[in-house]
Amino acid sequence: MNSVSAEPGISEPYLLGFLTSVGLDVEYTRAEGNTLFFRGDDGEEVPVLDAAGGYGSLIFGHNHPELVARARRLLDEGAPVNAQFSRNSCAQEVAALLSGIVRRETGSSEAYAAIFANSGAEAIEAAVKHAELDRVLQVQALVAELAEHTAAARAAVEAGEAVLPAGGHEDFEALVEEVSRANAEVGARPPVFLTLEGSFHGKLVGSVQLTHNAAYRTPFTALANRARFVPLDRPGAVGEIIAEESAALRDIVVRDGVVTVVERPFPLVAAFLLEPIQGEGGIVPLTREFATAVRRECDAAGIPVVIDEIQSGMGRTGAFLASSLIGLRGDYYVLAKSLGGGLAKTSAMLVRSGRYRNEFELVHSSTFAKDGFSTPIALKVLEMLEADGGRAYGLARERGARLAEALEGVRADFPDVVKEVRGKGLMLGLEFHDQSESSSEVVRDGARSGLLGYTLSGYLLREHRVRTFPTASAGNTLRFAPSIHLTDGEIERLADALRAVASVLRDQDEKRLTGG
Ligand code: F0G
Repeated sequence: MNSVSAEPGISEPYLLGFLTSVGLDVEYTRAEGNTLFFRGDDGEEVPVLDAAGGYGSLIFGHNHPELVARARRLLDEGAPVNAQFSRNSCAQEVAALLSGIVRRETGSSEAYAAIFANSGAEAIEAAVKHAELDRVLQVQALVAELAEHTAAARAAVEAGEAVLPAGGHEDFEALVEEVSRANAEVGARPPVFLTLEGSFHGKLVGSVQLTHNAAYRTPFTALANRARFVPLDRPGAVGEIIAEESAALRDIVVRDGVVTVVERPFPLVAAFLLEPIQGEGGIVPLTREFATAVRRECDAAGIPVVIDEIQSGMGRTGAFLASSLIGLRGDYYVLAKSLGGGLAKTSAMLVRSGRYRNEFELVHSSTFAKDGFSTPIALKVLEMLEADGGRAYGLARERGARLAEALEGVRADFPDVVKEVRGKGLMLGLEFHDQSESSSEVVRDGARSGLLGYTLSGYLLREHRVRTFPTASAGNTLRFAPSIHLTDGEIERLADALRAVASVLRDQDEKRLTGG
């Protein structure tokens, strides 16, 4: 009988082929701090400097001893991991800490309620669902109010206390019919979500429609609601697009004894989602000017702002929230990645209490969200961030500045190859100049297909034992999201490796690049 285990692997075989083709198909066997290890042909461990930092999920590095000890204790003590629908004081503590930190950083007078989830995209979808529930409940209240006004106007007309305007409808019911028809049309319009060009909010059915990359998004457009992408380079576009997406319901009221139809704003835009520093889109920080425009226009239109801090949050930029550094306050915040300390999968969606709808708790849940393993780990992560007066935030700032300085040094040495260094704290990117006219076929083809960044990553891993990736939607930009424990030596190693890759590009040396 054939053994089942003899089957060839079928987990994403295409992707594995791609990793092999660029030399990234390394199997790591151990991880510690900013280092991943694999076993070489001689069986010896080979250390790799991990600048990709688990896509930004490792603010304290791989397997931080304090987090590992916490995880171990949970298992040793037989902590209940899956005891859904019971009192969960640890989740309350995490929620209270998150709310307190957000209030401290933003100066908000309101508390934030927390809904837990398992991944970044899932928490984004929870925020989207909550915003839509809020919108639907607002519409219901508005429709009920309009019905009351209509009834009151009808009673006034019947009592002879109000008249129809001259030259208008012949009778009151004809007016009601026309208004109802118009209102039904507006009411049937699906919600619109606003987000930014270059955004990345996940790849699930709903969240992928808020992700700008057309390759990820367009095959699935029919599955979810409409999003509109606001250009990042023009703050004035925020107000223009909100104006284009505005709608109104007609309200029949009595004014000075005359039946009058007035317009009431209809909430068509359910939310405005944004990343304070676009991650996957190329490490692009939002300007204070743009953030101010978003807040102003959304406030004027009553649209909630959902700040996706999945990649930029949890202290990575030197503050808990990157948005707080540009003075942007959110009605919602979404956190994931480092919230799980690199050991657990967890995420949270926070809603300002003035916007929070208790009803949401009855219509949204997951078997695994808020479980007894990830929540205590998240609590420990938050305690570690906040310890010693927020020493971790200071480290992110200081180490980030040091790393940025080193990357700027590479750019200064290779201004013909390196275009720009961007980002804040330990969320940094280095963009190369376009290579699509390169004299090297490998480099040129790579640049034209958008995959050159992966070839460069393969070179860095093979020749320099440094792990980094391009940002997926901006293939010329390499991303760096190491832990706050990044050493000067590691920074130097990374800069040396980047100098080597820059010199390969300067020389258009495809032999060195591919090891051929
Ligand atoms: N939002 C942002 C800003 C992200 O960077 C990511 C993931 C998500 C949402 C989705 O989170 O993967 O847990 O479902 N970013 C990854 C990256 C893919 O490339 O850093 P998820």
